[in-house]
Amino acid sequence: MTTAAETFEAVLTANDHLSVDADGHLMIEETRASDVVAQFGSPLFVFSEATLRGNYRRAREAFAAVWPGPVNVMFAIKCCPNMAVRAVLFDEGAGGDCFGIPEIEATFAGGADPSKIALNGGNKTVEELDRAAELGITVNMDAAEEIDLVLAAARRTGRTIPVNIRFKVMPPEFTDFTSDAFPIAGDFREGLRRWKWGVGEETAIAMVERLKTLPELDWTGWHAHYGRMSNALESYAAFHGEYGRMIAAVHQATEVAPRVIDMGGGWSRERDPESRSTETPGAPIEDQAATAVGALKTALEGAGLDPAGIALWPEPGRYIAGNAALMMTRTGLIKHDIGFCWINVEASENNLPMICKEGSVNHVTVASGMDRELAMDADVVGPICIPSVIAAGLKVPEDIATGDVMAVLDAGFYAEGEASLINSVPLPGSVLVSGSEAELIKRAQTWQDVFATQIIPDRLRHTDLGDNLWRG
Ligand SMILES: Cc1ncc(COP(=O)(O)O)c(C=O)c1O
Repeated sequence: MTTAAETFEAVLTANDHLSVDADGHLMIEETRASDVVAQFGSPLFVFSEATLRGNYRRAREAFAAVWPGPVNVMFAIKCCPNMAVRAVLFDEGAGGDCFGIPEIEATFAGGADPSKIALNGGNKTVEELDRAAELGITVNMDAAEEIDLVLAAARRTGRTIPVNIRFKVMPPEFTDFTSDAFPIAGDFREGLRRWKWGVGEETAIAMVERLKTLPELDWTGWHAHYGRMSNALESYAAFHGEYGRMIAAVHQATEVAPRVIDMGGGWSRERDPESRSTETPGAPIEDQAATAVGALKTALEGAGLDPAGIALWPEPGRYIAGNAALMMTRTGLIKHDIGFCWINVEASENNLPMICKEGSVNHVTVASGMDRELAMDADVVGPICIPSVIAAGLKVPEDIATGDVMAVLDAGFYAEGEASLINSVPLPGSVLVSGSEAELIKRAQTWQDVFATQIIPDRLRHTDLGDNLWRG
């Protein structure tokens, strides 16, 4: 017999801060997960502060162990646009990567050191560039044409703007590329070439030469982002080796040395549902950092560039927030028919897009009575009109019943940011657990929030339902 606790404990990684107590309850730090649901409702994202802090520290130490210069680990807020989460990471010393005004403001809401923050994006607005200049953050430029726009912001605001240039990196090794996360196989360089981000080597040389003549812009270095394309270590080596070769080539052509190398995000996690299997663990962050940085350093040193004089800026999102939240949900109707069982839950496709749209395979478990045997197959499904299959063919206790509480692991990333409002289902709230304390850090949307921006023109108001949000 296998119990829910046994399968759960088998997937835990070093920094999960999750356990099962003597009564069979899932614990987040020292807090019972089902108690949090009883207090704050369902569905609910529940974050562990200790996990956030631990992931940040481990990433920082992994890069600092292999890089002789300063290391600035920048949290990519797009993966988890939650201000309290960002505030915890600022407290740890994290920098930040942001796109657009909302991410800039959310990054600074709980505190930020401007010298550790970068603004990314391929089509930055005047408003964004002016705000970046006022705050003193670095602008990662994505095109030669962007220089004029950033220069105009520097002149408007009277500030010197630090800038990096984003490289388009197409490693020669990627002629034979397979991804564990996406259906990509074969020559991937053409795909990368067409991606909108980054500039080629010739453009980069011309940009650096032009920047030398512009005192309003302080060229500090480079940016590249591999993303979570593959968790194979050789692919990190190929990408960052080619990135280093490009940096070295521009150094030789322009005779200026970078002070910053921004390595972007995509660092994979040990329990790695995005590999579409619970069987494929990602390499530890220490191995990813050592492999990527090793390849980068070899290329730089070959061109006489001393890494000790360059700051390294990795931008992890999913690595820091991924396992820091569980999606907690109550079960509703349990339906048995035509030889199947469906467990309806309150969480749905719109809360868990990585599972429902991107094919991630997350661990899903009952959160109390975890000493129960897993004796029955069931599909765990959300309440909306498209399939919303959170787990297919999951082994569950035979006596699972309406009102049971379930947990979905690894719900801390690309959940709120990629959520949809299908069936006008309001987005859930979030709670931060710290030891035995649980605090609300985001209230759940109401259905009125979902429709709050809509306007029915007077001539189209055909209702005798009385006053409502859009009448009277
Ligand atoms: C420029 C940049 N940096 C960092 C990230 C974070 O990536 P991840 O969450 O995979 O670490 C992204 C994600 O798309 C990105 O575009």
